[in-house]
Amino acid sequence: MSAGAVPGYLLPRTASLDARGTLSIGAIPVRQFAERFETPLFIYDEAHVRSLMREIRAAFAGNVVYASKAFGAVAMARIAEEEGLWWDAASEGELAAALRGGLPASRVVLHGNNKSPRELAAALDAGVGRIVVDSFDEIGRLLTLSDGARTPKVWVRITPGIEAHTHEYIRTGQQDSKFGFNLANGDAGRAIKLLKETGKVELAGLHCHIGSQIFETGFFKEAIEIMADLLFEEGVGELCMGGGLGVAYVNGESAPGVGEWGSFIAEAAASRGIGGGNLFVEPGRSLVAAAAVTLYTIGAVKEIPGIRTYVAVDGGMSDNPRPVLYGSGYEAFLPERAFDPHDTAMTVVGKHCESGDILVRDALLPADVRSGELLVTPVTGAYGYSMGSNYNRLPRPGVVFVKDGSVREVVRRESLEDLFRLEMG
Ligand code: LLP
Repeated sequence: MSAGAVPGYLLPRTASLDARGTLSIGAIPVRQFAERFETPLFIYDEAHVRSLMREIRAAFAGNVVYASKAFGAVAMARIAEEEGLWWDAASEGELAAALRGGLPASRVVLHGNNKSPRELAAALDAGVGRIVVDSFDEIGRLLTLSDGARTPKVWVRITPGIEAHTHEYIRTGQQDSKFGFNLANGDAGRAIKLLKETGKVELAGLHCHIGSQIFETGFFKEAIEIMADLLFEEGVGELCMGGGLGVAYVNGESAPGVGEWGSFIAEAAASRGIGGGNLFVEPGRSLVAAAAVTLYTIGAVKEIPGIRTYVAVDGGMSDNPRPVLYGSGYEAFLPERAFDPHDTAMTVVGKHCESGDILVRDALLPADVRSGELLVTPVTGAYGYSMGSNYNRLPRPGVVFVKDGSVREVVRRESLEDLFRLEMG
């Protein structure tokens, strides 16, 4: 199946097209979503998310931690809980989402390169499963807060010195990084020694995350080799290899599946004798990106003859800042006439007061695209809603989950009232 110029593998698994070219997700036609929940709207295929979680759990001999920064709704925490995943929280807010979703704190990993004393205290009070120590300042804070009654399990975040091929903003394993302890200059060794000497925490493991949107498994293998050496040198038990698997966003791109990636990591670790309960990965994007689409309504279509046609939708950089931030590519199509030739390059823009507010630079759409039509951008399930904003005081879109032919709103669309809830006068 392909919709317009968009191949089926970029769409949620329960997406289908009828004979007229109308897109349904979970057997619900897109117009129904728009009428009931307004646009823009994030539509997640819950079956898709769950099946990816099952796929990686089956393939990966170890614990799977969902990186909730990709999309951290409470409803996701509930799903992670039911599917037996852990939860990566990088703030008190992400920790609270896990707890509200019924995840036991023991399955939460607390991250962050600058955790506040308050965040650390909240994590200790909740009894999170692991705290990933990221700096010498943090070690100090942690030791001050640890009262000896509870001995938190910690991992040390290592920057192993790997330059993975991805956008520099989302590359994290290289020497010059704000994250973790540098291996090459001896900081990692010093941090490990400090933590071993104090009786106040239990040094349970080591962690690394080399970056995000990485397609080549070779980088992970390289990191495992380095981390395994360190693990044995230091006599530490657990290893977390972070997340970072890339996903296809546009036609022609392809990425390893989560199962493939999971078994690759598990095998590479097993060959160094690391596995079972001692091995962890933390995928975010690869579990949710392709499970969702964003549904927009087209407002203005402006043709500048000989130059370009702008197709403006009712959202933009506030619901998907990735094109502006990273120059990320997306596809777009008209979900109510997906079989019409999508053969004319146009620029899909948002409604914000910036020329850079571009969602899809060269989208292929039907030449006669009109105001009032619906437009879909696929693969928006990761780092869209979670990095969204209220720029220009636009309300955040709603988020719905579709499963077994029914739809539930998991995050409601913001109202005008919501936009002023913090104003003191
Ligand atoms: N673990 C840690 C410690 C991380 O920092 C991250 C992502 C992950 C796991 C999950 O990585 P994933 O599997 O999603 O690649 N906003 C950027 C991505 C930033 C990733 C930050 N850390 C984007 O939209 O491309």
